[in-house]
Amino acid sequence: RRRFIIDCDPGVDDAIAILMAVSEAARLDEQILAVTTVHGNVPLELTTKNAMKVLDVLPVQTPHFDSRRIPIFRGCASPLIHSAHEYFPWHGLDGLGDAGLQDAESRHVESEHAALAMIRLCKQYAGEVTLVCLGPLTSVALACKLDPTFPASVRQMIVMGGTTRAKGNVSLTSEFNFHKDPEAAHIVLSSFPQSYMVSWETTEQHTVAWEFMEELLKQAEVSCSSLGTFLRGITRPFLREKDRWRGALICDAVAMAVAIDPEVVMSVNECFVDVELHGRYGRGQTVIDWEGQLKEKKEVGAANVKIVEKINMDRMHEMLLGIVK
Ligand code: BDR
Ligand code: CA
Repeated sequence: RRRFIIDCDPGVDDAIAILMAVSEAARLDEQILAVTTVHGNVPLELTTKNAMKVLDVLPVQTPHFDSRRIPIFRGCASPLIHSAHEYFPWHGLDGLGDAGLQDAESRHVESEHAALAMIRLCKQYAGEVTLVCLGPLTSVALACKLDPTFPASVRQMIVMGGTTRAKGNVSLTSEFNFHKDPEAAHIVLSSFPQSYMVSWETTEQHTVAWEFMEELLKQAEVSCSSLGTFLRGITRPFLREKDRWRGALICDAVAMAVAIDPEVVMSVNECFVDVELHGRYGRGQTVIDWEGQLKEKKEVGAANVKIVEKINMDRMHEMLLGIVK
């Protein structure tokens, strides 16, 4: 049985990714061990409230799965080193499209820190846990430092973040999740023997057609009105950007599709990947040894990252539709 931990900063695309994971885990009889929250799209208190709202909107219960019992752990409120708190209002000021959603009263947050919970759960289920990281990597990096044996206990590590062509979405060269905490991204990539990286450019190439999104929203309204209201409310900022993108850019859902079913991956590049920590324009930039230059000089060992280039969009569409079924 596969088990998941979702580390996230909801975030509209995080929310959709979580809903996808809940519906697929229920369908496949898998377990979501925890949702852990981190600073990112909005401050930690809001990402945590948002995680509660997301888990509340899709109460799924099967003989082996109960989404109401998925525990939520609060992680780091700020980056490891720098203290800059810049927030980008893409997801609305509240992180979920300013849709006026009610707090999830029935939910509570565990007292254990997310980094400690990750270590404990990955040890308890050694070799079984897929860790999906959808926000800045601060808490995961902290877990790596607290317990250097933690990365080896994880079955599969999936990171949404970084760039493949140094085309940043928040600075000239860096992607939001890496930009928010470059040191954490560096620690994580260098601690895990192997991670899947779903970059900004890859997600840009896997947008979901507007017509499909509209159909999804309609089906949600028919199958469950609260889910319909929720999805329509949170996706309003996307729909406002219709002219800018070919389709809805749901970065974290692309990474979640890879976590749920690694078979969706149609092509990868295996390389050594690191993150630049200095520089006027380059801080937070993803650095990739495309030609194996560092490896040749024996400055690095084996490739540490599978850079996801292409995924099967039909499968991802199925997973999205699973939310409303
Ligand atoms: C990433 O940044 C956030 O705004 C999204 O939730 C996603 O995780 C994309 O760069
Ligand atoms: Ca995110």
